[in-house]
Amino acid sequence: MPGHEDFVYLNGTYLPRGKACLSVEDRGTLFADGVYEVVRYVDGRSFAMQDHLDRLRRSLAGVRLAEPKIVADLPAISDELVGRNQLANAKVYWQITRGPGPRNPLLPTDPRPSVLAMTYPCPPLPDEPAAPIRAVLIEDVRWAHCWIKSLMLLPNVLARDEAIRAGAADAILHRQGVVTEATSANVMLVREGQIITPPTDGRILAGITRQHQLAVARSLNMAVHERAVTCDALFAADEIWLTSTTLEVQPVSHVNGRAIGDGGVGPLAGRVARAFARHVQSRLA
Ligand code: PDD
Repeated sequence: MPGHEDFVYLNGTYLPRGKACLSVEDRGTLFADGVYEVVRYVDGRSFAMQDHLDRLRRSLAGVRLAEPKIVADLPAISDELVGRNQLANAKVYWQITRGPGPRNPLLPTDPRPSVLAMTYPCPPLPDEPAAPIRAVLIEDVRWAHCWIKSLMLLPNVLARDEAIRAGAADAILHRQGVVTEATSANVMLVREGQIITPPTDGRILAGITRQHQLAVARSLNMAVHERAVTCDALFAADEIWLTSTTLEVQPVSHVNGRAIGDGGVGPLAGRVARAFARHVQSRLA
């Protein structure tokens, strides 16, 4: 842990992490009634801040939570936290819940949302893909609104645990044989030189890394298809990688113990990772 105090922002105040408290009746804890975001900082500057703000607003609308005024200040609050916590490479977590209230499923008519922001240190932005991991296929039992970045992550947490118990690092989720995403990342695969990724149809989170990497791949003249991916197609892929704000390009070497390609890092993963690193560096704000 850093030698200095680690500050978080909660409902208008910056305070040491250990002093920040939410009510026991916060609807975030009682009902997972809230949404979140994770923003990447590289060398003290943020990447894709506006994209995260836009998605947060869509998530808030998706759970019918009127946007608290302070949302517009989250970029400045995040900069302030990263500075105060003396971090260069970090992720900033934002969480907005419907706030405290009696444990009643009825939506309160006058919610007092809880707004939390906190930081975590992160490794510097890599310009090569990470070391490959193993994944297992697990049925996606989440709700039908995975486009909302909701706090309701228990299915993701349990799927990740199941993957680890099976000797893998993550789960790739599927609904009746159609791949959705990983437990906290999107999935890309390569077949015959073309990148294929499931469409943003509501069954997955519209990942910001996904969107930027697809743009990067197109700028490299790679063919990109957003279309349904079956589990069979996954096994037949030449390359697979996962994408998220904190994973960038995370190659997958095996699915259910079966090697993908030669089980190493594929050439497209390498090209996209290098170009994506340049893309991020040139867009830091
Ligand atoms: N998760 N899909 C899911 C289910 C996710 O939780 C995430 C990100 C993504 C990738 O989205 P993005 O590229 O915008 O980070 C896809 C964050 C990092 C988290 O929960 O910590």
